Amino acid sequence: MIVVAHRGASAYAPENTLSALRLARIHHADMAEIDVRRTADGQFVVIHDLDLRRTTNVAELYPDRRSWRVSDFTLAEIRRLDAGSWFGDRFTGERVPTLTEALDAMRADGLGALVELKVHRRDPEMCRDLAMFLRADPYWRAAGADGRLILQSFDWVTLRQVAEVVPGVHTAVLGKTYGRFGLRRIARYARQINPHHLRVTAPYVRHAHAQGLTLFGWTVNNDHAIRRMIRDGVDGIITDYPDRVAGYRALA
Ligand code: G3P
Ligand code: CA
Repeated sequence: MIVVAHRGASAYAPENTLSALRLARIHHADMAEIDVRRTADGQFVVIHDLDLRRTTNVAELYPDRRSWRVSDFTLAEIRRLDAGSWFGDRFTGERVPTLTEALDAMRADGLGALVELKVHRRDPEMCRDLAMFLRADPYWRAAGADGRLILQSFDWVTLRQVAEVVPGVHTAVLGKTYGRFGLRRIARYARQINPHHLRVTAPYVRHAHAQGLTLFGWTVNNDHAIRRMIRDGVDGIITDYPDRVAGYRALA
């Protein structure tokens, strides 16, 4: 059972930063989940929200802007932002990482990468570019073939298009289908399904496995839910507390 640090070890450091990724391995994660968006000048950066205000000081630095979306700012502008101090003073100066920086950090620590394509409105071009970007690097291309690199999205149509354009890439749909037929349809283009943990049951895990799909549940933080997911037979748990999940895994 794989332990995935959600947005890095986001209980211990500001989400989707290099600090959160560094702490993921220290807290016994096997993989880290990151969210990827594109800047106004087409660069990939690691950040969850469409809007920069929750996790950076963008409103302070750019008070005259009328919109604070990631896609309205260039990479150079985003790199000026502080993405750490909202979480605590000791993280002041933390930057929004580029995708390359985040992948390098994960690679250096031997962490697998669960990369979520955050798509605002359908954007097959961005997803295809991201898949091609990852395949261009031999290390991540090999990781894509053996499940150490997984591309996931809530946008199943876009994910299906990615699988068509870049065959062999390991894709995971986020959410849940109803019944076996839905799982069978998904298995035509994806290798994995990642539902919210409250939607996971042991029979559902078995049905997914029968279709050849692996299954990770998210975002599983409390003790009871972690134990239940392990009992249900999931293949991975996405959590803000990788140390907690690793502890229960060791006992199982
Ligand atoms: O990995 C699953 C989870 O990240 C999906 O939700 O909102 O945290 O991106 P969210
Ligand atoms: Ca995510």
